[in-house]
Amino acid sequence: MWLALIVFIVLVPLAIAGASMAPWVPTRKSDITRLCEILELTQGQRFLEIGTGDGRVSEAVAKKFKKSSVVGIELAFPMYIIAVIRKYFYGSKNMTLRLANAFKEDFWNYDVIYVYGMPDKMWAKIVPQFLNQAKPWAKLYSYVFSIPEEYKQQVVSYGEEKEAKIHVLTKK
Ligand SMILES: C[S@@+](CC[C@H](N)C(=O)[O-])C[C@H]1O[C@@H](n2cnc3c(N)ncnc32)[C@H](O)[C@@H]1O
Repeated sequence: MWLALIVFIVLVPLAIAGASMAPWVPTRKSDITRLCEILELTQGQRFLEIGTGDGRVSEAVAKKFKKSSVVGIELAFPMYIIAVIRKYFYGSKNMTLRLANAFKEDFWNYDVIYVYGMPDKMWAKIVPQFLNQAKPWAKLYSYVFSIPEEYKQQVVSYGEEKEAKIHVLTKK
């Protein structure tokens, strides 16, 4: 009975999210610092983290950019609960968390979007959704996984040889 409940409440949502865009694998701490250094987020701009996991990326961005609003959305209920608990202890007022599916989100509402998703989902879904919905000059930051070659003129990649790359796609 308890095992069935745990499977239903914890493992099934994690498996669904894993198949939807990516399983939970966190951005490395040092790379969160690097991300915050290269992020361009001005006063009043809105930042979205697609698949916020435990919320640490959104927490760091919200802390550094206090005059921007930061939204983290997460599909897997257990990860969402962990992010909400972390936000209670470490979060800032300008950070919001929602249990939501990235593919149902309207990217028009954001100036900067961060994602750490599996490359097949990135290429087939996230990048097209971003290019269809986002405002001109909005930016999509992709951790580790590259943006399709056809958009290479709109992409700047950050990271030394041994570092994980952060690719930034600008909507034109
Ligand atoms: C690779 S992890 C990245 C976690 C966090 N962004 C980080 O960088 O530390 C991907 C996260 O996306 C979530 N996820 C998967 N599919 C999703 C979807 N369709 N909508 C929102 N979140 C999703 C997973 O549950 C997981 O927490």
